[in-house]
Amino acid sequence: MENAFWIERWQKGEIGFHRDVHHASLDAHWDKLTVPAQSTVLVPLCGKSLDMEWLARRGHKVIGAELSGIAVDAFFASQGVEPETRQEGEHIVKSAGPYEIWQGDIFKLPQSALANVAAVYDRASLVAFEPAMQPQYANWLASNSNAAEMLLVALDFDPSEMKGPPFSTPEATVTKLFGKDFALERLSRTDALDLNDPLRKRGLTALVETVHLLRKAK
Ligand SMILES: C[S@@+](CC[C@H](N)C(=O)[O-])C[C@H]1O[C@@H](n2cnc3c(N)ncnc32)[C@H](O)[C@@H]1O
Repeated sequence: MENAFWIERWQKGEIGFHRDVHHASLDAHWDKLTVPAQSTVLVPLCGKSLDMEWLARRGHKVIGAELSGIAVDAFFASQGVEPETRQEGEHIVKSAGPYEIWQGDIFKLPQSALANVAAVYDRASLVAFEPAMQPQYANWLASNSNAAEMLLVALDFDPSEMKGPPFSTPEATVTKLFGKDFALERLSRTDALDLNDPLRKRGLTALVETVHLLRKAK
């Protein structure tokens, strides 16, 4: 999608993807990663996700990347903190406590933003990209972050039933996108239609959420 599409979604408050609680994959699977608790986790396309709060509570430093200033400000407001703001090239960087959120295009993040990233948490990020853009995202992650591990929440549905975003990312797609750089392990496969009524209303008759653990191939 064009960046303007997402900026407008936030301006209009059309953010059906946002959840008022953290995602269940964190409770279920984050312990399977081997990165130390104090290490830095990148949350790409972070929105105002409370997954960042969960990761920080676990002791992680959290780097977020998000286009919309509305989302970034809403996240810090949800934490009851006033962030410090600085300009880094094309990005506005807002930070407070364990959080540093880079407001701007993730593909233009400078290397310095990612220097200490040990792991990536992706929920609703890969699936936000059109299939034609997904290889760019996967390659960018593999080549720009030193992350050794990644927890990825993917969606599997019949794309003819609904126009994205989100876009379907079945296991074969995840393997094709990340298999050359990461060893993949599928951790769970859950029927998720009941938890996603808006997607049912948009036409889906079946929806499976899969959680993958990716480990950088040595
Ligand atoms: C589907 S939402 C998911 C947000 C969050 N991960 C969550 O679980 O709520 C995708 C988010 O990515 C942001 N976004 C889209 N393209 C981006 C880009 N190129 N760089 C940074 N953020 C982007 C959008 O503004 C939107 O907030």
